[in-house]
Amino acid sequence: MAITQDQIALNHWLPVAYPGQVKTGESYDTQLLGQAIRLSNTNGALSCNILNDGGSLGRDLPLDERFAVLFTTLGDAPRPLPIIDEFDEPDRRIVNCGSVGVNTSPFRIVENFLDMAHFCFVHTDLLGAVDETEVLSYKTEHREDVDEIWATECQFFQPGASASAIDAGAGQMSQYTYRVLSPFSVMLYKSAMGYPDRLDAICLFIQPKTETECIGYMPMALLDDASSTTSMIHFQQTIFMQDRIILENQRPKLLPLTPRAEMPTRADLSSVAFRRWLKDSGMRFGLWQPEAA
Ligand SMILES: [Fe+2]
Repeated sequence: MAITQDQIALNHWLPVAYPGQVKTGESYDTQLLGQAIRLSNTNGALSCNILNDGGSLGRDLPLDERFAVLFTTLGDAPRPLPIIDEFDEPDRRIVNCGSVGVNTSPFRIVENFLDMAHFCFVHTDLLGAVDETEVLSYKTEHREDVDEIWATECQFFQPGASASAIDAGAGQMSQYTYRVLSPFSVMLYKSAMGYPDRLDAICLFIQPKTETECIGYMPMALLDDASSTTSMIHFQQTIFMQDRIILENQRPKLLPLTPRAEMPTRADLSSVAFRRWLKDSGMRFGLWQPEAA
C-alpha cells in the first residue's frame, strides 16, 4: 500500500526497531503506515529516512529511544509517547523481548492483548486453566487527562503466570491493570512474585507496516532477580506466538468497529471501550469500513 492519508494514524510515535538491531555500517529497510523507510547506522550514529520509490533517501525522520525500543513518526504533531515510570526505577530489570511479525490489523493485536477470556483456551497451563474459565468483573474507564483507556480490578487464576512463577511451581490469582497507551500501544501491570506491593510492567508497542502487517515489540520492566533473561524472553515469546496463530486467523483482518457479533459478555467490556475510543478518535486506518466493503 502507499502511505496512509489518515492524519490521525500518521500523528503517532511508532516503534521501528530495537536498540542494537541495526549494526554499525548496516542499514535496515522496513515500512511504517505504508511508507517505506530506512534505518542506517553510520559509525554508531543511527538515522532514519523515508525511502523514495526509486530507492533514494527522502526526508530525515526523528528517532527517539524509549522503553528499550526505537520510535519514529511520520506526523507533524505526534501524540507524545506515554509516561511509564516503571522503566525509570533502578531496581527493575528492563527486558527487551525482541519483535514478532503478525499479519493483522494493529487494533486486533491491542484488542487481543486486552482480552482475558482467551487465557484458558490459548495459553492453557500458563496464563489460564481449562477449569478456571470465568472472567471476573472488572472496570474500564477513559482517563481524559492522558486520553488513555484503563481496565482495572482485573483478576484471573494463572497456573504459570511468568517465568518466575513457573520456576516456583506455583499457580496464583494474578491481579491485572491494563492501559491502552495509544491506538498502537498497550501495557499491563501484573502481580510480581515476591513483591506484594509492586507490579510488573509489560508493554506491547505495535509497528503498523501496513493496515494488516505489523511488528510487535515487547519491552518489560520486571521485578525478578531470579529468572534468567533468556527464560523471561522465552516465556513472553511463547505467549505471543500462541496469540499470533489466533490473530492471523481472524476475519476480517481489519477491525470492525461494530460490537462483536458474538453475544457480548462482561469479559468484552475493555474491547467495547477500546472500539468506542477508536471510533471517537476519527481513526480510519486499520479499521474495517462496511461502506467500502
Ligand atoms: Fe494471548
